[in-house]
Amino acid sequence: MSSNLEALVQDAAQQFAEAADPASLENAKARFLGKSGALTALLKGLASLSADDKRAEGARINQAKVQIENLLTERRQAMADERLQARLAQETIDVTLPGRGRGVGGVHPVIRTWQRVEEIFRSIGFDVADGPEIETDWFNFSALNNPENHPARSMQDTFYVDMKDSGGLPLVLRTHTSPMQVRHARTHQPPIKVIAPGRTYRVDSDATHSPMFHQVEGLWIDEHISFAHLKGVYTNFLRCFFETDDLVVRFRPSFFPFTEPSAEIDMMFTSGPNRGRWLEISGSGQVHPTVVANFGLDPERYIGFAFGSGLERLTMLRYGVDDLRQFYEGDLRFLRQFNQRL
Ligand code: DAH
Repeated sequence: MSSNLEALVQDAAQQFAEAADPASLENAKARFLGKSGALTALLKGLASLSADDKRAEGARINQAKVQIENLLTERRQAMADERLQARLAQETIDVTLPGRGRGVGGVHPVIRTWQRVEEIFRSIGFDVADGPEIETDWFNFSALNNPENHPARSMQDTFYVDMKDSGGLPLVLRTHTSPMQVRHARTHQPPIKVIAPGRTYRVDSDATHSPMFHQVEGLWIDEHISFAHLKGVYTNFLRCFFETDDLVVRFRPSFFPFTEPSAEIDMMFTSGPNRGRWLEISGSGQVHPTVVANFGLDPERYIGFAFGSGLERLTMLRYGVDDLRQFYEGDLRFLRQFNQRL
């Protein structure tokens, strides 16, 4: 390397070393490597040399350039290290300070209702069953005495699954948890005493309806299960759920294809701010003989009741929520009210 190149490298080393902060270092870099820097000028000067000289001189200049670039990188790294050391020396961490804490999440109010419903029914000997949300047309409708083309089918606005995805088997998003009566009863022997909570779907959306919602189905089948059992079980459930004995229950005649007779269960608080008003709370009835036969059981021998209740409805009544859509908006201000830790 010619002596003037060596001098240039030494000059760069000195200027980099003298730079006290990153800005001065970058300025120093420009003086050597920048567009109008010393090395760039030398490279431009190559143009006037012969081909052989150009190659030899070019190689020397490049060598010098690499050295200067390495010096620059070293100096940058050294500066960063100095800065870090200075910060470490200056800053202290108080390890005795309490942590900032972290949101831990909480159980959704509707799921809390689901859990409580399970606890209450388990405590009086009911099993808990779970089943598919994509259901065959047969379990959702036909087995429940809801024949094809029967007007009762239009009581529920159904989401049908595209048949090309199901190999021709008619599939629906279950419109209620009632198909679980049939699924469970066909695989168990009486006495059958079960609840089946879960998600259900209907083409419906307003302040009291959501396209996805939750129900709990109840079924008790044996040789002598009557409406009196239904009344006892359901009244006990409501008293446990609302944590008060001050409520009464009445049965109002109704229609469901899978029960005969059918009834709406209404309840009324007899004390507290909501007392004195009948509230519709659940569908119910004595299981229709045709449905008992679809369970694979002899309807002359086995009899019992079923009910289907909305978990959102129970949750709204318990907490005084008046718009069901709030459950699904994910607004923390709403959800926090049910969970102090959120
Ligand atoms: N499946 C009915 C619905 O979603 C509710 C219902 C009514 C369920 C009566 C029952 C019953 O088990 O007996 O509208």
